[in-house]
Order: sequence, then structure tokens, then C-alpha cells
Amino acid sequence: MSVIPSVLDNDSCDTAIRASFLHFKTDPDLSGDAHEYFADGLLILKQGRVRQLVNALDWIDHLPDGCALYDYSGCLVMPGFIDTHSHYPQTEMIASYGLQLLDWLRQYTFPTEEKFADRDHAEQIAEFYCEQMLRNGTTTAAVFATVHPESVDAIFAAAGRRDLCLVAGKVMMDRNAPPGLCDDTQQSYRQSVELINRWHLQGRAHYAVTPRFAPCCSPEQLELCGQLLAEHPDLYLQSHVAENLDEVRWVAELFPRSRSYLDVYDHFHLLGPRSIYAHCIHLDQADLERLADSGAAIAFCPTSNLFLGSGLFSLDAARAQGIRVGLATDVGAGTSFSQLQTLNEAYKVCQLSGHSLTSLKAFYLATLGGAESLYLDHRIGNFAVGKEADFVVLDLQATALMQRRMQNSESLEDKLFALMMLGDDRCVQATHVMGKRQYLRAPS
Ligand code: GUN
Ligand code: ZN
Repeated sequence: MSVIPSVLDNDSCDTAIRASFLHFKTDPDLSGDAHEYFADGLLILKQGRVRQLVNALDWIDHLPDGCALYDYSGCLVMPGFIDTHSHYPQTEMIASYGLQLLDWLRQYTFPTEEKFADRDHAEQIAEFYCEQMLRNGTTTAAVFATVHPESVDAIFAAAGRRDLCLVAGKVMMDRNAPPGLCDDTQQSYRQSVELINRWHLQGRAHYAVTPRFAPCCSPEQLELCGQLLAEHPDLYLQSHVAENLDEVRWVAELFPRSRSYLDVYDHFHLLGPRSIYAHCIHLDQADLERLADSGAAIAFCPTSNLFLGSGLFSLDAARAQGIRVGLATDVGAGTSFSQLQTLNEAYKVCQLSGHSLTSLKAFYLATLGGAESLYLDHRIGNFAVGKEADFVVLDLQATALMQRRMQNSESLEDKLFALMMLGDDRCVQATHVMGKRQYLRAPS
């Protein structure tokens, strides 16, 4: 932890940002004092890390010469959004019509992913995907590549060029898919080891062992996933579980000895801290308790779950159990790169489940909640001293409709609610990564 200086000089400060600021110290469900808001704040940085967040009027005249000042007065700055589950290779097939999970995978997803055998194609889509992250204010993501090692190189390289924080891995799948997407089981282990050695903990890159989901993985392959985790204990693990009822029935046929779908992964030692499971819609109480005990996180994917008609995730049940939950776009079953739009749909999923998602809780999920899910809250997720300065600059007046709606808005909570219901990439004025501006919205 850095020590807060009483006097600012070039040793303690090289960049300052003036704006309104909102961030979370903890989950709003756990404390009435979870968030901190500065109407006119100053975020002071040194070498891409937070030194202080203070009232601007107290400090603005004391910035040292040579300190770069970004004046975003009138905008709201929040920690960069965190997307805890997404598929960059599915960018081009977003919004594909009419099917539920298993048919959608066969008809749209697998043919799209087969194209990633071509390194050039992978590089082009990876570039585009990272640009979309930035224009939506997302600075950290947990991302699936495809089975092709080139696809992993492409996304880590593209993210690294922008200093984005990325969790990613080669998809492992050795059955129930077209031959062009099926691993040789042993070779998938060797390729994963090579990729781990090349990328894990290089800059802001984190490697995730990535079995696609139990129906596409033989028991031998799941065993090898467990072996990779045992051999490299600081890796991530990401997969899907209990998204769709036909999928759940299929897993019961494929793994008749397992108590539940989640239990298949548990059997192969794939539940623990830094395990991220997308969806978790059709779980029972024993599964929820097991997830909580293991320290694994759930990626809540509302736009995807509604789009594929998969079902309603119960945020309440998961949180009541104390499970870590992050927000996720799940592009390309998810229909938006925008975490604002994702919160819009999260609100409606909660409404249909009989409880309300407050705007404070919503933005906690998109920021600190995501960081906690990824076990990265010591580095990102809020503006605590010493954290990596990833942030999004939001214009709450970005559209004529938002301007009119905000005129009638008095409280912070209400403004935030209108932002998450009406906002999208048009509201993202700028995105900074490790303090540096990586995206500035073109003037309209
Ligand atoms: N289950 C297995 N693969 C996928 C995928 O690519 N998207 C979604 N939504 N679910 C999956
Ligand atoms: Zn997914």
C-alpha cells in the first residue's frame, strides 16, 4: 500500500482526473455504507495506480507542474467494468436467430469457431473484440478462445497491446462436436501447458483452463484439466454449468454416476477459488452450498439467458448462500458488449424472480463484485489506494432521452438506475487502462 502524501509532488503524482466519482468498498447488501461518491472529485495517480481519491476543490490548486490533468467535469467516473464470462470468437455471430442452447451451438457456434484455425482471422476478431471492450468501458474480461492455440495467442496479444486485464484460455473439447473442433485429448493437455508457459502472468494476462462444458469433454479430458490445475495452482478454471434443461438431461445420461451436473466437475477437482462457472440456472440447494464452500464464482449472464430462453438465474439464492457472483455479457449468446445493457436485463431477470436489483447493487456487480469473483479485488474493482487505475468515464446526458430523464432525477440511486436502463456505449466518453486513456469517444 502506498502512503498518502500530505503534499503532492512529482514523486507522488503524475496524472489527475477531475469528475464525479463512484466506487464500492464492499457489497451494498452487506453494509449501508458500501459506496463512496464524490460530486466533484479528483483521482490522483502515479504510474497507473491510485494514490488518492479526494475532493477536487481541496487539491486542484496543489497539483505539481507536469502532472497531466484530464478534466471530465460533468461526467461520472467508475472503476472499469469487469466481464466475468465471454467468447471473443463468437463476436461475428452475435444475435443469431431462433434456437436454444444445443441447437444454437451446432448451427451457429461450432461453424463460427472452426474459422479460428486461421491465425489471421483470429487476430482480426481479437482486435475488434478488444476495441469493443474499450468502447463499452470494460477493462477486464474472462474470455473463451477456441480449441486452436492460435486463437489464444491472438486474444492475449490484442489485450496486451492495450494493457487490458484478461483471463483466457484454450477451449478444451474432445467429443460431441465437429472433427475440426475436437481435440486429441493428450494433445490438448500439451497445448495448454505451452500456452500457460507463454502467457500466464505475463503483464496482466491470466491463463484459465477452459473445458467447454461436460457434454463436449470426455472423462479423460476432465481428468487432465484437474491435473493442469494441480500442477499450476494459481491458474483459473472457466466453464459452463446448468444453463439449459436439455443440456442438464444430457449430462445426466453421459455421467450417470454423478449426483448432479455440478458434481461432474467436482469429481474431477474443478471447483475452487478462481473457478468461474457461467449460468448456474438449474442448480439445487446442495449444488449452491458446494459452490459456496469451494470458493468458486458464478458468472451471471442475463442477456444470454433471456436470448437463448435458458431460464432465470436466482441472484438472491446465490448471494444468500454467500457465493461470489460477477456480471457477464456471454457474447455471442449474450446480445450486447455493454455492461449497462447487461444490467438492464439483469434487472428484468430479478424482477421475474420476484426481487429487485437496486442500482447500487447492480454497479457493485459490474465492478468490485466482478473483481471479487475473479479474486482480483486486491488489484482492481475500486479506487482504493494502490489499485490499478482502470476506469470508465460515463456521460449520463449522452442522449436526448437521457437528458430529459435526468432532469427529473434527484438522487444518485435514481440517476444510476436510469443509466443502467437507458445507457449503452453512447454513454462511454472515455476508457482508461492503468491510468492511460485507451479510448475517447469521437465527437458526435
Ligand atoms: N455451453 C457450451 N458452450 C457454450 C457457449 O459457447 N455459449 C453458451 N452460452 N453456452 C455454452
Ligand atoms: Zn459462455
